[in-house]
Amino acid sequence: MKEYHSKVIDVEHGDNFTVVQPVNIYSCSFGDDCFVGPFVEVQKNVKIGNRSRIQSHCFVCELVSIGDDCFIGHGVMFINDLFKDGAPAYDPQDWKKTNIGNKVSIGSNSTILPVDICDNAIIGAGSVVVKDITTPGTYAGNPAKLIHGIVKTSMIDDENIK
Ligand SMILES: CC(C)(COP(=O)(O)OP(=O)(O)OC[C@H]1O[C@@H](n2cnc3c(N)ncnc32)[C@H](O)[C@@H]1OP(=O)(O)O)[C@@H](O)C(=O)NCCC(=O)NCCS
Repeated sequence: MKEYHSKVIDVEHGDNFTVVQPVNIYSCSFGDDCFVGPFVEVQKNVKIGNRSRIQSHCFVCELVSIGDDCFIGHGVMFINDLFKDGAPAYDPQDWKKTNIGNKVSIGSNSTILPVDICDNAIIGAGSVVVKDITTPGTYAGNPAKLIHGIVKTSMIDDENIK
């Protein structure tokens, strides 16, 4: 039997970095004042900006970058392999990247395919984002669509943040 253990290894981070174990995060970087909840995996080369929070049970895969002041809700899954040839692509050259801007809040249990999401976007809980989001606003559903253009105060500013 091969047995591996979750770990925090080769992680660059700024000041005030908080991790709630167990997490499996490796060869990635975080800015200042970041938080990572339990049961999170962050893969290599992921870059996360300042004051961003990755809530419990998230999977942040290789080729994802996340800006400053983002809130990645519980159980958010990122995707880099679209199974374009009908099966998992084991060659990283076939994987696609995702860029999340600044002040983006992603609701719990959302799935983010390889896309760009602009600053000041809100993604509703349980959404599946399949296309780039280029205009600030609130998006929800499967596939995620604009539900309104209102950007309320970012959840990151809420002192009751969970
Ligand atoms: C998307 C969201 C931000 C919208 O909130 P809002 O701006 O107050 O919008 P409303 O509740 O007025 O809903 C507007 C419409 O979108 C629909 N809607 C709202 N949230 C939705 C969601 N997650 N998925 C699909 N549709 C949604 C509503 O049913 C409503 O549709 P209608 O106009 O046909 O009745 C919010 O519903 C949400 O999902 N927040 C995520 C919270 C979260 O995950 N927090 C994590 C920490 S606990």
